[in-house]
Amino acid sequence: MTKLKWGMIGGGEGSQIGPAHRMGALADGRFDFTAGALDHRPDVGREYAQRLGIAADRAYGDWTEMLAGERGREDRIDLVTVATPNATHFEITKAFLEAGFNVLCEKPMTMTVEEGEEIVKIAEKSGKICAVNYCYSAYPMVRQARAMVRAGEIGKVRLVVTSFSHGHHGDATDADNPRVRWRYDPAMAGVSGQFADCGIHALHMAGFIADDEVETLSADFASTIPSRELEDDAMVNFRMSNGAVGRLWTSSVAIGRQHGFDIQVFGETGGLRWASEQPNQLIYTPVGGRTQIIEKGEGGLHEEAQRLSRVAIAHPEGFPLAVANIYCDLADAIAGEARDGLPNAADGVRSMAAVHTAVASAKGGGAWMDARPPMFR
Ligand code: NAI
Repeated sequence: MTKLKWGMIGGGEGSQIGPAHRMGALADGRFDFTAGALDHRPDVGREYAQRLGIAADRAYGDWTEMLAGERGREDRIDLVTVATPNATHFEITKAFLEAGFNVLCEKPMTMTVEEGEEIVKIAEKSGKICAVNYCYSAYPMVRQARAMVRAGEIGKVRLVVTSFSHGHHGDATDADNPRVRWRYDPAMAGVSGQFADCGIHALHMAGFIADDEVETLSADFASTIPSRELEDDAMVNFRMSNGAVGRLWTSSVAIGRQHGFDIQVFGETGGLRWASEQPNQLIYTPVGGRTQIIEKGEGGLHEEAQRLSRVAIAHPEGFPLAVANIYCDLADAIAGEARDGLPNAADGVRSMAAVHTAVASAKGGGAWMDARPPMFR
């Protein structure tokens, strides 16, 4: 099989998410790391790209140079990942889609709902893939949970309870640290802090496992550290299209919680529980029956979960391999075999609509509001 050519923008040396993309993209031998504009400092980015093995003529100083260089080549990249800070996602993703490249964009896909809708339309028109990196949905046992719901194994979903709450910004004496402060400053972060950063992963997961869409929501935001303009804690109640009730708590001041992402889905005939800190296990309880632990890699899993389990049962698989599952699905999709579950631009704009609705609801005393983007109402 010919390898696909992959490029990345952002994710430079010392960045948080860059290494997970490199490990993920290269894990299965389906992509070569061919081009990059990895850093906001052109020389630093060029030097680092070459240290990672990229040829000098494809180690670019910035994304405009990369677009100009790649679009004219016969052996142009097949996929570009956008792993820069949030405010740049829209213009980079738009430019590459319009030039006919497949894109994997980091979350949040855009800053506004209007931009999000524009990306959905451009992706449709170009016929190119625009995926969004809701990578937690690619853990094998999350795919198993979704497949179990779809197969009716817990009956109709009544209730989804999820949290993505950590304590890493809980130290008030560190609140002025520039690496922390920007996240709660509207000039840098946009309209929402914690909900836009972590809450949207949980909200996407709720829709993903329940196989449903969020329709309305009511939010309560708090800045528990008073110097913060944006919220560092949020409780969001929501309702889904098929009637399921949703509860979501996200926080960055929950000291003692580490990664803190978990979800429970309760149906009429059973319940499921998954937590990102024990990602290889799915807890299942049939109504009136015993609680069971379903392990990644065991026999009898749904095909989706089996396909994405790489190493033998009980050998841990973690975050970079969940990202790798996104790249596997992308490689299949580029080869013409679309994979169900790959998060796309529609998921990206749904998140943006939920963020802006939650902000409006919180300002309006928790009023219930339509959380869908206008294009999906
Ligand atoms: P970071 O601040 O650690 O790294 C950003 C990198 O992008 C740096 O190397 C920087 O030099 C580079 N950069 C900045 N502007 C650039 C430009 N115009 N052109 C090229 N390179 C540029 O940021 P982090 O935490 O890695 O986040 C990046 C994105 O990934 C964010 O959108 C964030 O929301 C997302 N993210 C997603 C996660 C997930 O679970 N899917 C987890 C962590 C981050």
